[in-house]
Amino acid sequence: MTLRPILIHPDPRLKKTCAPVDAVTPEIERLAADMLETMYGAPGVGLAAPQVGVLKRVFVMDCVKEEDTPPRPLVLINPEIVSYSDEMNTYEEGCLSIPEHYGEVTRPARVTMRWMGLDGTTHEEEFAGLWATCAQHELDHLNGKLFIDHLGVIKRQMITRKMAKLKREKARG
Ligand code: NI
Repeated sequence: MTLRPILIHPDPRLKKTCAPVDAVTPEIERLAADMLETMYGAPGVGLAAPQVGVLKRVFVMDCVKEEDTPPRPLVLINPEIVSYSDEMNTYEEGCLSIPEHYGEVTRPARVTMRWMGLDGTTHEEEFAGLWATCAQHELDHLNGKLFIDHLGVIKRQMITRKMAKLKREKARG
C-alpha cells in the first residue's frame, strides 16, 4: 500500500464528474487500499478517488469514533443514493482537500446508499449521523462538488482565495 498525495483545492480535477467503474480489477483494489491508508494517515473519515487525482466513482470511509470499537473501513464503488430522510441534519464539515477550513452544511439526516463492493456484489445500507454526512460529502466529490459549494458565495470565495494564496506560497517554497 502506498500513501497517495491529496489534491488541494483549487484544482480542476476536483471539479470533474467521475466515470463509473466497470469491474473490480487489481488496479481498483490497489486504489482502494491506497485510499484507505491515505485516509487513515491524514487522518480523515472519508476520501474520494478524485482527491488523489483518479477520476473514478470510488470513495472510502470509516466514521467509527469510539476508541474501543474496531475500525470499519468501507469501500464504495459506483455509489448512489436510493432514498433520503425528510429529516435534516447540520454538521460542521471539513475536507482533506481544504485543510483548516470548516463550514456548516445541512443535509438529509439519513440516506440509503447502494454500491458495488470490492467483492463485486451490490451492497445496500442506511447511513445515519456522521456516516450519512460523510457518505453524501464523498458522493458529492464524485460529481465535482465540494462542501464549500453548499456554503454562501461570500464564504466560498473567501476560502478559495485563501487556499489559492496558500498554494502559491507553497509553490514558491
Ligand atoms: Ni472532502
